Amino acid sequence: MLIRHRPDLTENDVTDRGLYLRRREFIAGAAGLGLAGLGLAGSGGAAAAAPLAFTKGFSTPEKPTPKDDITSYNNFYEFGVDKSDPAENAGRLKTRPWTVRVDGACEAPRTFDIDELIKGQKLEERIYRLRCVEGWSMVIPWVGFPLKDLIAAVKPTSKAKFVAFETLMRPSEMTGQKWDVLQWPYREGLRIDEATHPLALIAVGLYGETLPNQNGAPLRLVVPWKYGFKSIKSITRISLVDRQPPTAWNRSAPREYGFYSNVNPAVDHPRWSQASERRIGEFRRRETLAFNGYGEWVADLYRGMDLKKFY
Ligand code: MTE
Repeated sequence: MLIRHRPDLTENDVTDRGLYLRRREFIAGAAGLGLAGLGLAGSGGAAAAAPLAFTKGFSTPEKPTPKDDITSYNNFYEFGVDKSDPAENAGRLKTRPWTVRVDGACEAPRTFDIDELIKGQKLEERIYRLRCVEGWSMVIPWVGFPLKDLIAAVKPTSKAKFVAFETLMRPSEMTGQKWDVLQWPYREGLRIDEATHPLALIAVGLYGETLPNQNGAPLRLVVPWKYGFKSIKSITRISLVDRQPPTAWNRSAPREYGFYSNVNPAVDHPRWSQASERRIGEFRRRETLAFNGYGEWVADLYRGMDLKKFY
């Protein structure tokens, strides 16, 4: 298939036609019900899962992983290192009030209140595969908006070559931050062309409701073609910068976790193979796909790069 340059890519280009038509039907139906373009229907917070109004964005037709699995088998080291720790401990995190500072190489740096930010967006559902670097995967129906829209709002300058993300630092609620498992706060980064790719999403919900704390409330990044650790949770700061920013896992084990961390079955982790994965809920392992199956839309971003070197 012809790989187009990013600026030419529209949502319809990356949508299977059947899904695109279904999405249009959904929008038409939603408009009839007066639902289109509504923001967050509720205040959210630690305990309440409020329904969200959204349209259907480009998605995989695969069956989503059950919600119970998505919300009980997590990596969120700020709440502990076991998979069950986040569901148990993340309820302590107060997600209101919450602000996100977006600054750096831009003309209009701004601090967004989370509810104002969400109200100003047209939320859509994106059913994406998530592949963890540990060798398991899920299919998750996120609700959110493209990261590129948030970046455009602050008017980046030509010095914005990378985007740096930071999670909240609050050891009184994020008790895992009292231990030195990583250098806190958790940090991540993307190149500006990755960050403004239409697939890169800011998620504020899943399964049609506000994001549970263990999944990164009130807002997290989702970069479906990269290993899950790039998808940083509970973000408080996004900075446009001119150099590749430091990232938490790369700092902790640079030979194991690179800055790019594109899903790549041909490049093994130093301690295990990346050729296959266990889809949560399935018995047999399945083959891992290059770029987690999103290659036809994102491979062009890495043309000419040695992906063994830039792992
Ligand atoms: N973000 C923060 N702040 N802290 C973390 O420990 N873990 C990452 C990523 N984002 C992590 C994080 C890892 S390793 C993965 S696989 C995904 O979140 C898991 O997301 P999920 O729990 O919603 O499936």
